[in-house]
Amino acid sequence: MQLTPRQEKLLKLTFLDYTQMSAFIETPLIINKAEGLYYWDADGKRYLDAIGGIFVAILGHRHPRVMEAMRRQMEQITFTPPMHGISDVTLDFIEKLGAVTPGTLDYIKPFSGGSESIESALKYVRQYFKQTGHPGKYKFVSLYMGYHGATFGAMAASGSGKRKSKFEPQMGGFIKVFSPQHYRNHFSDWASANRFAAQMVEDIIVAEDPETVAGLIIEPISNTGGIVTPTSEYFEHLRAICDRHRVILVFDEVITGFARTGAMFAAQTFGVTPDIICAGKGLSGGAMPLGAMMARADMGEAFLGPVEAEVQFAHGHTYAGNPLASAAGLAVIAEIQEKHLDQKAQSLGTYLSQKLEGLKKFGVVREVRGKGMLRGVELVKDTRSMEPFHKLGLALKKTALKNGLILRINPDWFAVAPALIAEEKDIDEICGLIEKSLVEALREVQA
Ligand SMILES: Cc1ncc(COP(=O)(O)O)c(C=O)c1O
Repeated sequence: MQLTPRQEKLLKLTFLDYTQMSAFIETPLIINKAEGLYYWDADGKRYLDAIGGIFVAILGHRHPRVMEAMRRQMEQITFTPPMHGISDVTLDFIEKLGAVTPGTLDYIKPFSGGSESIESALKYVRQYFKQTGHPGKYKFVSLYMGYHGATFGAMAASGSGKRKSKFEPQMGGFIKVFSPQHYRNHFSDWASANRFAAQMVEDIIVAEDPETVAGLIIEPISNTGGIVTPTSEYFEHLRAICDRHRVILVFDEVITGFARTGAMFAAQTFGVTPDIICAGKGLSGGAMPLGAMMARADMGEAFLGPVEAEVQFAHGHTYAGNPLASAAGLAVIAEIQEKHLDQKAQSLGTYLSQKLEGLKKFGVVREVRGKGMLRGVELVKDTRSMEPFHKLGLALKKTALKNGLILRINPDWFAVAPALIAEEKDIDEICGLIEKSLVEALREVQA
């Protein structure tokens, strides 16, 4: 699209997340309208949104049911004071969310996004151990290349080097391990790499002294690591390790939550119940900033007591759980349940994966990964050396945008995660555009 001098001037005055504005100005995207699977830029050009905003618009943009719920809520109340009031709609939201969580994870604190819910879980776990007889437990184990948010605690739990090194020193008490994917070249099969990676988690907890380790925090499928998709057995091992050493297992389901992987939560997809789930993104379908921390009932009970005991959770945010966001969240969960979008994500996700597998004919795809409607394609220079193909991903960014397709491109891999309202014909269109853009990008890098 063509920028006006005013737009260019204003773009230089602002900051897109993790983005160099001078590069953005070269290939800008100013979006003024969105509906369903589509965006329209300021010039009126249409884009097919193959990643649901950024794993957010789970029901597509401006879903009528969510819009209507918010409109009705706006007639009643849009803000309640967070220290001395709550509205019925927020209680309804807490009830609805608690009813769809696995296990007993129905103690819920709503937030305004993913980082807030992660930040909160870190504090919650530390406070929990302080008031239940294990005051020395404070460390968190998490994955290199994981991403849990931009705030200081969430950043310390995250493992992507260059995003963090600019702000060092990081907070103390955060230990990193590698994901199974890191070890895959050392093993002849994927299951063995997973078992080894799980064993490393236990070895590190033991080496640190389990009485100092409070939590293990992990995305069931890590986006930033490249849609890293471990085996169910890996999570079974992590669950057993956490139980053995009294470590709280926290699933960061900011991306994987709300039917994306074929079940309401990836915890259910992988058949493992964590002690805490953190959610964000898809929870409001992109209509309002919304997140939530959901904790195991017996943990929640440790925060109830007489005022003098001072065991209440010492944490909060002004906009967290506001009535308007709660109304949006209620509508999203109801729509997922009524339309069985979890089942749809399974079947349509299989279809999407098969279509993406077809890209292997170009000889530059190592692997198609993911579950349900969250898929990733790893780009390599050739399938013998398996060397990452950075330049191809960078070229694909430009050709996809030119062809009116929005993907998340790393650039060594790209993610495809359309809204769950998509149908097979939409998947065909997305995959057709991916193929066209990939062919053009290949031509560009080979020239
Ligand atoms: C897995 C994961 N956790 C946490 C976050 C942070 O969420 P937010 O950007 O809403 O603060 C993100 C954001 O991309 C994420 O992908």
